[in-house]
Amino acid sequence: MDDYRTPSADALFTSVNGLEAELEHRFSTVLATRLANAVITIARHLHLVTAELRPSTEELHHVIDFLTDVGHHTDHKRQEWVLLADVLGVSALVEGLNNPRPQGATPNTVAGPFYRADAPELSLGADLSRDGKGERLHVSGQISNTLGHALPGAVIEVWHANAVGLYENQQPHRQPEFNLRGRFRADAKGQFSFLSVKPGGYFLPLDGPVGRLMQALDCPLERPAHIHFRVAAPAHETLTTHVFDRADAAIGRDAIFGVKPELLADFRAIRTPSGAQEHLLDLKLVLCPSGQPGSETMGGK
Ligand code: BEZ
Ligand code: FE
Repeated sequence: MDDYRTPSADALFTSVNGLEAELEHRFSTVLATRLANAVITIARHLHLVTAELRPSTEELHHVIDFLTDVGHHTDHKRQEWVLLADVLGVSALVEGLNNPRPQGATPNTVAGPFYRADAPELSLGADLSRDGKGERLHVSGQISNTLGHALPGAVIEVWHANAVGLYENQQPHRQPEFNLRGRFRADAKGQFSFLSVKPGGYFLPLDGPVGRLMQALDCPLERPAHIHFRVAAPAHETLTTHVFDRADAAIGRDAIFGVKPELLADFRAIRTPSGAQEHLLDLKLVLCPSGQPGSETMGGK
């Protein structure tokens, strides 16, 4: 194989190696803990990135200023660090690594910041819309497992943004509490249904350092329209997922890498006799039995 290293790349290689050896030596006396291993691994990767990008001192200070700004935009109401992890794909990766799903199971995704665990239990067929704003959506679905068995009594939590892409807890004074949220129990055949309004896509916050960074890269923080589900059934892995509107123009550029082919769904438009536009959505959500070995062999997800 050709030696691809130029003399300067060679020097670089040596200096990165030297630092790595020093790093290993420095930490060789600490306990072999997961924390120590994480710090060493992160430092090693930072050295490699630094060697590859060769930032000037000024550029390093820009990076530090950016990270400082991310901290300044974080408080108990807003988490700019989580947003940074989201837009870099780290949150999606952590979710996928920790919740692998075998072939045939509905993929897991992050729950996101708008989930509320206290949504009210509603009867099947109930309307999630408490303000009646938006185009009517009829949702029906089936909960089953990877063995093809229906899961009667599965608990299905649903939450989604309104027609203009805003969640109820983003607008506590403008939307009724629990608007577009609910909890259902699947019937004896594992089936469920509810009414709602068609959700709109939305942008994640653009007014902070992460939003500004992504705009500078011409990557606006768009999320295609979706509905979130969390489905729990005894002896099965709880499924947290989103179902996306396949026709949304932003479907190929979800800011947080949540879109997967299995999560695309058709919101089928219909006209009512009075001429109003409504939408039908029919879903199959497939859970994985707990501890099923297939969940460790996830291959191409
Ligand atoms: C959401 O879909 O609600 C969401 C998920 C992750 C980050 C931001 C929003
Ligand atoms: Fe969402």
